[in-house]
Amino acid sequence: MTVMVLIGAQWGDEGKGKATDLYGEHVQWVVRYQGGNNAGHTVVRPDGQKFALHLVPSGILSPGVKNVIGNGVVIDPGVLLGEIGELEERGVNTSNLLISADAHLIMPYHVAIDKVSERYLGKARIGTTGRGIGPCYQDKIARIGVRVQDVLDPSILAQKVEAALEQKNQMLVKIYNRKALDARQVIDTVLEQAEAFKHRIADTRLLLGEAVARGENVLLEGGQGTLLDVDHGTYPFVTSSSPTAGGAATGSGIGPTRITTVVGILKAYTTRVGSGPFPTELLDESGEFLRQAGHEFGVTTGRARRCGWFDAVVARYATRVNGLTDLFITKLDVLSSLETVPVCVAYEVDGERYDEMPMTQTAFHHATPIYEQLPGWSEDITGARTLADLPAAARAYLDRIEELSGTRISAVGVGPGQDETIEVNDLFG
Ligand code: GDP
Ligand code: IMO
Ligand code: MG
Repeated sequence: MTVMVLIGAQWGDEGKGKATDLYGEHVQWVVRYQGGNNAGHTVVRPDGQKFALHLVPSGILSPGVKNVIGNGVVIDPGVLLGEIGELEERGVNTSNLLISADAHLIMPYHVAIDKVSERYLGKARIGTTGRGIGPCYQDKIARIGVRVQDVLDPSILAQKVEAALEQKNQMLVKIYNRKALDARQVIDTVLEQAEAFKHRIADTRLLLGEAVARGENVLLEGGQGTLLDVDHGTYPFVTSSSPTAGGAATGSGIGPTRITTVVGILKAYTTRVGSGPFPTELLDESGEFLRQAGHEFGVTTGRARRCGWFDAVVARYATRVNGLTDLFITKLDVLSSLETVPVCVAYEVDGERYDEMPMTQTAFHHATPIYEQLPGWSEDITGARTLADLPAAARAYLDRIEELSGTRISAVGVGPGQDETIEVNDLFG
C-alpha cells in the first residue's frame, strides 16, 4: 500500500498537476486536501490534450480512479459545477468525483470581501487570487462557516447564511461601502446549485479510511506550496490553509501514521505569484528569460509569475517541515542554453550567513542570496528518459540539488507532457 502526499515545495506552480497525473496511474484514489479554486494545475495528457484544473483533483483524467474533494478544501459551488461541466464536455467521465460533507462552501460574500479587503490593504496587499479563499477559511475557524452538508438541510442552511450575512452585510456596507447581499437570494442560489452536486456528497474520511485498510493506493494532491502555508510560509504573504504534509492528514481524515511517502515538487528554479519576500527573485533579463522559456504565467489569474534562481535554503526547509521522502524536480529543460546556472546555497542578512530559513519576517525580507555558480548545458534535454541521457552538467546540477536539499530525487521533468519525465525511483514498487 502506498499513501503518497504530493507537496509543492516552493511558492506554488511547481508542476503538481503533472506529477499527480503521472502517479495517478498507480493509485485507486486521488484526494485534494486543502485550498480551493485559487489553485491552477496543468495536465498535459499522453495524447497531447491540455487541461487546467482548479478544484477537481487531477486524478479525474485517469479513468477508473476515484477522486475526492476532501474536508480541508473550500468549494465555490458555481466554479465546481462549471469545471465539472467543462470536463464532461471534453469527454471526461466525472462520475467518480466525491465531495466531503465537511468541506466548506465559498459564498458570494467571501468573494466580495476578498476583493474589497485587498483594495483596502493598498500597498500591503497580499495579491490574493480574489476567489474568496481567505474569508471562507476565516469563517471556518470562527465557526460561522457553511459546509457542504448544510445543503441537505435547507432550514439549517438558511439559518447559517442569515446569521453570517448579518455580520457580513455590516462589513460590506459600513466598512467597505458596498451593497448588502440578500440572504434569500444567496440561499436559493446555493440550493439550486446543490441539486447538481448533491449526489456526490459523501463521508469521504470513512471511505478513505476503509480504502487504506484494504491496502489501496491513495494520492493526496496539495494545492499551493510550502512557503504559502499559513503556519510555515512567509506569513502574512501566504494562503489561508495548510498545504504542507500535516495538512494532508487534517484535510482528508487519513491519519498521519498511514502516510507512507511524501514527495516534494520542486521547480529547477523558483517562481512566485502575488506579493511577499522572494530572495532569489530576478528583476533583470535573466528573470525575463525564465518567464518566457518556462511560460511562467498563472493558470488561474493569468498574472506573470515572478521568477528567480533555485533556492536551496527553501528546498531544505521544505524537506524538513514536510518530512519529504522524495523530490520531483520539474522544468529542468527550461534551464538549457544557460552558460552557468546560479544556485542559492545560503542567505546573507546584515553581514551574517544563514544556512537555514531566518526566524523572523524582518530577516527574511532582508535576506540576499549567496550563490554557487554551476556549469550550464546547451543541449535540448526534452527527449531524455533516463539520467544517462542527460548531459553531464545537467546531471551535476541535479546531484548538487539533491545534496543541498538532503532528499533523494525520484523523478525529473524535462517537458510538460506526462511522458517527458525521467523516473529515477519506482515509488509504487
Ligand atoms: P501546479 O500548480 O503545481 O500544478 O503547476 P502549474 O500547472 O500552475 O504550473 C506548472 C507549469 O509547468 C504548467 O504549465 C506545466 O504544464 C508545466 N510543466 C510541468 N512540468 C514541466 C517540465 O518538466 N517542463 C516544462 N517545460 N514544463 C513543465
Ligand atoms: P497552485 O495550486 C501560486 C498565492 C496568491 C497570493 C497568496 C494568497 O496552482 O500552486 P489566496 O487567493 O490563496 O488567498 O492568495 O497565495 N496563491 C498561489 N500562488 N500557485 C497557487 O496555486 C496559488 N494559490 C494561491 O497569488 O500570493
Ligand atoms: Mg498552479
